[in-house]
Amino acid sequence: MDLASQIYERKSCRNYLDEEIDLDIIKDFISKCRPLNENINYYYEILTKDEVSVRTPWSAPYYLALYSEEKENYFENIGFVFQQVSLFLQSIGIGSCWVGMASPKKKKSNFVILIAFGKSEKMTRDRSSFKRKDLSKISDYEDERLVPAQLAPSAINSQPWFFKHSKDGFDVYQKKQNILKRQVFKNWNPIDMGIALAHLYVENEETFDFEIKNDFEELKGHTYTGSIKI
Ligand SMILES: Cc1cc2nc3c(=O)[nH]c(=O)nc-3n(C[C@H](O)[C@H](O)[C@H](O)COP(=O)(O)O)c2cc1C
Repeated sequence: MDLASQIYERKSCRNYLDEEIDLDIIKDFISKCRPLNENINYYYEILTKDEVSVRTPWSAPYYLALYSEEKENYFENIGFVFQQVSLFLQSIGIGSCWVGMASPKKKKSNFVILIAFGKSEKMTRDRSSFKRKDLSKISDYEDERLVPAQLAPSAINSQPWFFKHSKDGFDVYQKKQNILKRQVFKNWNPIDMGIALAHLYVENEETFDFEIKNDFEELKGHTYTGSIKI
């Protein structure tokens, strides 16, 4: 199973076949994912299309409904864990897409977000067709090691991440949105941050480390997410 190679050819899948999937291997993979913050309890349910209210013009046969205890960096944690799952699905021929514009019909507390998934024939692309900010725009200076984060999916492709080189890795920041967009991206951008960190983890599995420093540097127009070694 090669998760890292999926980063360079994945795309959000919005075109699904109505086929059944063996859910056990997915559940097994989820149970083995690394969290960003071990202190946060989270859980998921697998729902079918009929159990979800969708506000997108497309739908998928299955949805992962994600729930979390609301503490510390729980949005980032959900993004981090379930982007590993999304890459795993991609590696076994199952397409997926994070969906902010949907919710489970049965309301439960602690709901965070859904991920649509299902079998698909349209789920890869060339590296050249990724629409992303230049590396020089997402870091204090260009660094090829950040390509996995550069290619990460994000809500409305907002790519809110910024990486500043530190002594032994990067300090990671989330761009503040302007006042008009702030409400829309409030919950989604921290999920995006976790997603980008998941790509860096998957590409640097042996060396990746994340911590939240107390003495981090402020960066104008940004909030501090944490610091990584890769
Ligand atoms: C937190 C989050 C929420 C998203 N919500 C939606 C959504 O509601 N509908 C949709 O079609 N795509 C949604 N997306 C997918 C993004 O639009 C997509 O990741 C982005 O445009 C980049 O394209 P790519 O994933 O194909 O690389 C979401 C992505 C993230 C990370």
